[in-house]
Amino acid sequence: MSNKAHAALGFDDYGHHSDELETEVLTGLAKPQKRISSKYFYDERGSKLFEQICDLDEYYVTRTELTLLRAHAKDIADAVGPGAAMIEFGSGASLKERILLDALVAPVAYIPVDISKDHLLGAARALATDYPDLPVHGVCADYTRHFDLPEIAAKGNHFGFFPGSTIGNFSRPEAAEFLRKAGQTLGKGAGMVVGVDLKKDPAILHAAYNDASGVTAAFNLNLLIRVNRELGADFDLDAFSHMARYDASGGYVEMLLRSEREQTVTISGQQFDFTVGETIHTEFSCKYGVDEFRQLAAGVGMTPAHCWVDEKELFSIHYLVVD
Ligand code: AVI
Repeated sequence: MSNKAHAALGFDDYGHHSDELETEVLTGLAKPQKRISSKYFYDERGSKLFEQICDLDEYYVTRTELTLLRAHAKDIADAVGPGAAMIEFGSGASLKERILLDALVAPVAYIPVDISKDHLLGAARALATDYPDLPVHGVCADYTRHFDLPEIAAKGNHFGFFPGSTIGNFSRPEAAEFLRKAGQTLGKGAGMVVGVDLKKDPAILHAAYNDASGVTAAFNLNLLIRVNRELGADFDLDAFSHMARYDASGGYVEMLLRSEREQTVTISGQQFDFTVGETIHTEFSCKYGVDEFRQLAAGVGMTPAHCWVDEKELFSIHYLVVD
């Protein structure tokens, strides 16, 4: 890569949390409903599998959001105004931030924030190469906790970006808490774009999380491969199967790993028993109504200013302003 591209690349590292996987797995599997957080899906293989999910026919989320972003990039840029410092919650290894950066008038900085250092550095370098005149400053941090914005952010109007309905992977109270903290980080008057998946026909949701080619199943089971590799566990991959179901009253899809037989798994010297049919909960993917999400945002000090929804009413993009 050329020096020119790197001249504009800054980086802050708030440290890693490598011991968290062990603590969380041991604590989560000791609960009556065993669980492992979906945040651990994204090791190298998991991230690749997720990219494949985004291309699946059944997984409408990514292409619908891209279409909406393309259609409304100018509206978003008008709402944000010139001279924005764009802060992306997540590494920004996708087309989405480029669609917005291309539409923004004279953006002053792009600041991706992600827990995965390698992913973040790769994405930040690629973006700095493609946008040599735009200062890019990666922040390696857990964006659900407080982090300081780099100095360069002070040069522009803060504008937050949280695409992909990643907010759906928080429970509703966690989503509210995340928005509240994001509002504090961005500051009064800042705009924030959030991609939010909508409640819809359960058949569409079922297909999206149980794709015919089995990519989502491989993505879910990869969690056990990761725990085996990183914690020296002995999960038998053939003895667990993928499950995903929509709970209409709760408004969420949940993914689970089902034990196909009675078995005992050893992790870091601790044993965990499974009965036939017992599950490990691995992900919530909450789905919202438009008004429901607006109310959630308003409740934590963000004014819902705009919302764009596709024709089939599959997905929504909200523009919020911090009060
Ligand atoms: C990243 N996140 C928004 C995805 C979702 O739809 O909840 C993760 C995913 N899980 C299964 N398929 C995709």
